[in-house]
Amino acid sequence: MKQIANVLPAERLTRPANCETHGSYISTNIFGTVWTHCPTCESERLAKEKLEREEFKRKQLFEEFHRKVGDSGIPERFRSRRFSNFVASTDQQKYVLEFCKEYAESFDQVLETGRSAIFVGAPGTGKTHLACAIGMHVMGAYHRTALFSTVMRAVRRVKSSWSRNSLETETQAIEAMVFPDLLILDEVGVQFGSDSEKMILFDVINERYENRRPTLLMSNLSQDEVVAYVGERIIDRMREDGGKVIAFTWDSHRRVK
Ligand SMILES: Nc1ncnc2c1ncn2[C@@H]1O[C@H](COP(=O)(O)OP(=O)(O)O)[C@@H](O)[C@H]1O
Ligand SMILES: [Mg+2]
Ligand SMILES: [Zn+2]
Repeated sequence: MKQIANVLPAERLTRPANCETHGSYISTNIFGTVWTHCPTCESERLAKEKLEREEFKRKQLFEEFHRKVGDSGIPERFRSRRFSNFVASTDQQKYVLEFCKEYAESFDQVLETGRSAIFVGAPGTGKTHLACAIGMHVMGAYHRTALFSTVMRAVRRVKSSWSRNSLETETQAIEAMVFPDLLILDEVGVQFGSDSEKMILFDVINERYENRRPTLLMSNLSQDEVVAYVGERIIDRMREDGGKVIAFTWDSHRRVK
């Protein structure tokens, strides 16, 4: 019977070798005429490859982020809006800013419960600013998707799917608003709010609710008016998952400046 020791070489051959950069080293025979290279060169090559892989990954994430921001519908003007450039001087402003930060920073938990929020307050109080800041954070830090749309644009999209030569079906139009991890619906109640508009809004929010996906609604209406506009059914669903109405009670930032 053949002994294992006879099959495997007991000891590898070695020989002194020289690297032009790192000087002398001991080279080990791998098999036949193949010998190991300079260990310092080898580890430098591995380190360089690791760096290149990391750089590639970073570039991918960066490009992905930019593509996402481009697809997000966040208006150009609001892409620079962050928590850090929101001026909070009063206690109420600080509370609202903290709420938004906490919401964005615990977005993984928000996704588990589908916790939504409604921002109400006068024009110019920073509702769109903070909603966009949340959207940007969620896309940047969490690699999640966010979609920003005014109610008018969302409704128009669904309505145009009804036309015979539309490129997308109604289901696809609604699905596009249900799919993103975060949906930001701005300017709720700016228009009159026809029945079909309310139905569309309900469909979108309801589908998101069923899928436990959070939605942020923004409105210049008062809290009561928003509830009346959106309907108790939707408000109830939002509240059920811990959703809150956040009141922006101060004067317009445009007037303060
Ligand atoms: N507290 C604030 N600090 C810094 N900029 C603000 C603040 N509030 C509002 N702004 C800025 O004022 C403008 C109007 O705010 P916006 O978010 O559009 O208000 P709203 O959506 O409530 O009407 C935006 O350019 C926004 O970035
Ligand atoms: Mg706004
Ligand atoms: Zn070397």
